[in-house]
Amino acid sequence: MAKITIENAVKKFGDFVAVNDVSLSIEDQEFVVLLGPSGCGKTTLLRAVAGLGLLDSGNIMIGDRDVTYLPPKDRSISMVFQSYAIFPHMKVFDNIAFGLRMQKVKKNVIRERVQRVSELLHIESMLDRYPSQMSGGQRQRIAVARALAIESKVLLMDEPLSNLDALLRLEMRAELKSLLAGLEATTIYVTHDQIEALSMGDRIAVMKDGEILQYDHPTRVYDTPSHHFVGGFIGNPPMNFVSVRVERHEGRYSARVDGFNIEADDNMSDALSRYDGKEVLLGIRAENMEASKTPLDGALAVEVKVIEPLGSQNLLTINTSQDTLKVSTHPDFFVDPGETIWLRFPANKIRWIDKDTGAAITPDIEKLRA
Ligand SMILES: Nc1ncnc2c1ncn2[C@@H]1O[C@H](COP(=O)(O)OP(=O)(O)O)[C@@H](O)[C@H]1O
Ligand SMILES: [Mg+2]
Repeated sequence: MAKITIENAVKKFGDFVAVNDVSLSIEDQEFVVLLGPSGCGKTTLLRAVAGLGLLDSGNIMIGDRDVTYLPPKDRSISMVFQSYAIFPHMKVFDNIAFGLRMQKVKKNVIRERVQRVSELLHIESMLDRYPSQMSGGQRQRIAVARALAIESKVLLMDEPLSNLDALLRLEMRAELKSLLAGLEATTIYVTHDQIEALSMGDRIAVMKDGEILQYDHPTRVYDTPSHHFVGGFIGNPPMNFVSVRVERHEGRYSARVDGFNIEADDNMSDALSRYDGKEVLLGIRAENMEASKTPLDGALAVEVKVIEPLGSQNLLTINTSQDTLKVSTHPDFFVDPGETIWLRFPANKIRWIDKDTGAAITPDIEKLRA
């Protein structure tokens, strides 16, 4: 069993707090992605799990062992670094065998393991080459093969695909996902690429400024971001945010924008009662608005500024008096810039956001679930 439990982890560099009271629990054999912008503390947290930088406070458990103060070699982990960290003066075979030799594994076992992982990664014909004779994608495979050869229960990967070009990254993403699904390792995978996170993770921990803002399944992080930042960081285009004022009419709540009222879901009434008359943000994904070329009941009239035919969708840019929105429509929804269209905001697709804290305003039931 290799459940990983991080409790109240704090890591400082001088006065700077790089990891700020992070708690995270990862199930045995789960694949968890740490996602966040550059500098948010992902590598620092991963290195702490690896034992490559001791925490200032907090604990890390792997299985039922407290590894907080153990050196890396005693943690039963293997790691793939962003830089690959493969040795240029060693042949591919020796690079892959490196960790096993450090562990004084028997020669015949080393040969077997190197053979097996190099087949898995389709580099079995290159074992006699030097890394300098290989492409970026192949070098990346050596780094992964070396980590897998150790067969540790915990696999830590720090942006393993970030040095590859876009096409190769796409290919390796699916390949790595299927490869790892066949292993029994518990994996923490670091990336700043939200698509990679959505496509690979069993769960995603979204980090910002050393803290985890949301930890949940990809669809839930995407559909119901817990924070303004999460909605804006995940998704292409990011979630739209519209400044609105909360109003109450005959016991029902709605969002006032440009003289128009967008109805709130009934289950939001209690939560929104605390915001009556206040400005909040209404978050909605580009694909969740219903666009029409003819007037619709309960729809906001808006002017189309830009239309981008993207093949699988037409992406419209529209402006309210204060905000710019992206609206995704069917590829045969043709309009010209300057035309008026009508937009409907389905109540169950709206996220309400506290303007001061950035936190989602949610029904109490959702808070209980979290
Ligand atoms: N050894 C170090 N000394 C000082 N500051 C560091 C050190 N390592 C990381 N930092 C700082 O800590 C923050 C988080 O870094 P890092 O964990 O590498 O972020 P990420 O991997 O999310 O891009 C950054 O602001 C970085 O400059
Ligand atoms: Mg990093």
